[in-house]
Amino acid sequence: MTEKTNSLFDSRNRAELLTIKKASEWATHYTGRKVTPSNISYLIQYGRIKKIGENGNVFVVKQDLIDYYHSFNGKREVSWKDKLGDDLNWALSFEQYKESETTKHVHRLHPYKGKFIPQLVEYFLDSHIDDFKKEIFFRAGDIILDPFCGSGTTLVQANELGMHAIGIDVSAFNAMISNCKILKYDLIDVKNEIDHITVELKKFLSKSHTIKFEEELIQALNEFNTKYFPTPEYKLKLRDGEILEEEYGAEKEKAFLPIYFNLIEKYKIKLKQGESKNFLNRWYLNPVREEIELVFNLVKKIKNHNTKKIVSLILSRTIRSCRATTHSDLATLKEPITTTYYCSKHGKVCKPLFSILKWWQTYSNDTIKRLYEFDKLRTKTYQICLTGDSRTIDLISELELKQPSLADLVKSKKISGIFSSPPYVGLIDYHEQHAYAYDLFGFKRQDELEIGPLFKGQGKEARNSYVEGISRVLLNCKKYLADDYNVFLVANDKYNLYPTIAEKAGMKIVNQYKRPVLNRTEKDKGAYAEIIFHLKDK
Ligand SMILES: C[S@@+](CC[C@H](N)C(=O)[O-])C[C@H]1O[C@@H](n2cnc3c(N)ncnc32)[C@H](O)[C@@H]1O
Repeated sequence: MTEKTNSLFDSRNRAELLTIKKASEWATHYTGRKVTPSNISYLIQYGRIKKIGENGNVFVVKQDLIDYYHSFNGKREVSWKDKLGDDLNWALSFEQYKESETTKHVHRLHPYKGKFIPQLVEYFLDSHIDDFKKEIFFRAGDIILDPFCGSGTTLVQANELGMHAIGIDVSAFNAMISNCKILKYDLIDVKNEIDHITVELKKFLSKSHTIKFEEELIQALNEFNTKYFPTPEYKLKLRDGEILEEEYGAEKEKAFLPIYFNLIEKYKIKLKQGESKNFLNRWYLNPVREEIELVFNLVKKIKNHNTKKIVSLILSRTIRSCRATTHSDLATLKEPITTTYYCSKHGKVCKPLFSILKWWQTYSNDTIKRLYEFDKLRTKTYQICLTGDSRTIDLISELELKQPSLADLVKSKKISGIFSSPPYVGLIDYHEQHAYAYDLFGFKRQDELEIGPLFKGQGKEARNSYVEGISRVLLNCKKYLADDYNVFLVANDKYNLYPTIAEKAGMKIVNQYKRPVLNRTEKDKGAYAEIIFHLKDK
C-alpha cells in the first residue's frame, strides 16, 4: 500500500480496504447476488464508490460498498438482478445520465414511443473500450445501417461520431422525424417563418372569442379548484382515506359543468366538428382544428424546403399535445373529451385545450434551441432515412435517387455494420401512434408492412411471422455489408426468437449484453431488461 492509501486508511478510522476481486466476493456474499469484478469497476468508473491507488494496486473502501448497496440505486440493482438474473449488465443502465442528457439536442424534437437512448448507441459505435466492451467495432468514416430507424437515434449519434449512416423505416412519418433531426437548416429563415406564423395565429385568435372564453374559464376553474381541491389539504385527505377520490371527483366534475356550459353559450363556442371518423375531426375541438388548418396552410407556403420540413414537424408536435384528451390519457388515447373533467393526475378539475398557441410557441422555441445545440456538434458526414420495407428495399437504387454521394460510398466501401432496435412482437403499432400526423400530412400508411405490430398480437402465428420478417430484413441488408460486419440488435426477446432469426439469416450470435432499462416512458416502471445481440457472419 502507498503512503497516500495508508493515510486514507487511517483517516477512515480502520475502514477496511478491499481489492476489486475481494470487493466482488464480499459484495456477492453481502447482497446474495452475483457481483463480478467488472461490476465493481463500473461502480468506480461512474463515481458510485471511490478508488484508492492506481493501476495494478487499486482498492475500494468497504464502507463505500455498504453505503452503495443501501442507497436507492444499489437496492434497485440488487432487486432487479433478483428478478431478471445475475447476468444483468448494470454498466448499460446509463443511470448516471440525467433525463436532459438522454433527450439531448435533437433527440427530443418530437415524441416517439419506442426509441432507445443515444448513450446506448454511442456506447457501441464509439471508440472506447472497457471491461464489458473489449473491442472497437466502428470507426469515423464508417457507414452504419439502421433498418428499423424509428425516430433516427442511430443517425444522429453516427453524425456526432463522424460516421455516415443510412436508416430505413416503413413508416413515412418516422422517416420524416429522422430526417428532420439530421437535416441542416438556415436557422434565421426557420425563425422568420415561425415568427410570421405566430403573428398570423395571434391575429386569427384576436378575431375569435377563444381567448376571452378561456380567460374566463380559467378564472372560474381557479376559484372552483381553490375551494374544492385546496393544496396540499386535498391530496393529504386522499392519502389518509378521508376522501374517496372517484366519488368526490365525479361529484365536483358534475358540479362544474353548468358553469362550463354557460361560458360556452356566452361566447358561442362551437365544440364539435362534423361526424367524420377521421382522426383530426374526432380528436380536436373545433376551435383547435381551425387553428391547425390556418397554420398548416401557412406552412405549405414556406419556400425553403428544409424550413418547411422542420416547421411541419413543430406543427405535428404541437397538435399531438392538443388532442382532446384528459391529461392522464395523453399516451394511450381512450375517448375524446369536449368538457371540463376531474383529472386524477393533477387532483383538480382540468379543461381540454381550445387553442394551439401556447404549445406552438413553446415547441417553436424549444426546436430552435435544440437545432442550435446540435449544430455545434455536427460533423460533415452523410445521413438519410429512406421510407421503405427493409425486407425488400433496394438500398442502392433508393440512395441513388435521394442521396447519390452516399450511394457511391456504399458501392465503394460497403457498410460496416448495423445498429438497430427492431420492433418487438406485438408491442406497438408504429403508424397508429402518429395517426394525427398521417391525417394532417396525408402520408400513405403502410401498417400491413410493419413487422410485429401490436394489432397482430403475440400468438404463435405472430411470432412465426416476426421471425420470418426480421430474418428477411437481415438477409436483405447483408447484401450491402462488408464481410467482417458487426450487427447489433437491441431486443426484448422474451420468446427467445433471436437464435432462430440469426440462424435463418446466416449469422451467429457472438455475444449478448443484457441491459436494465431504467427510464421507461411506459407507466409500468418495474424491472425490465433488453438484450443487445451481437451477430457476425456465420
Ligand atoms: C423499436 S422502433 C426503432 C426505434 C429507434 N431505434 C429509435 O431510437 O427511434 C422499430 C421501428 O421499425 C419500423 N418497422 C417495422 N416494420 C418495418 C419494416 N418492415 N421495414 C422497416 N421498418 C419497419 C417501425 O416503423 C419502427 O419505427
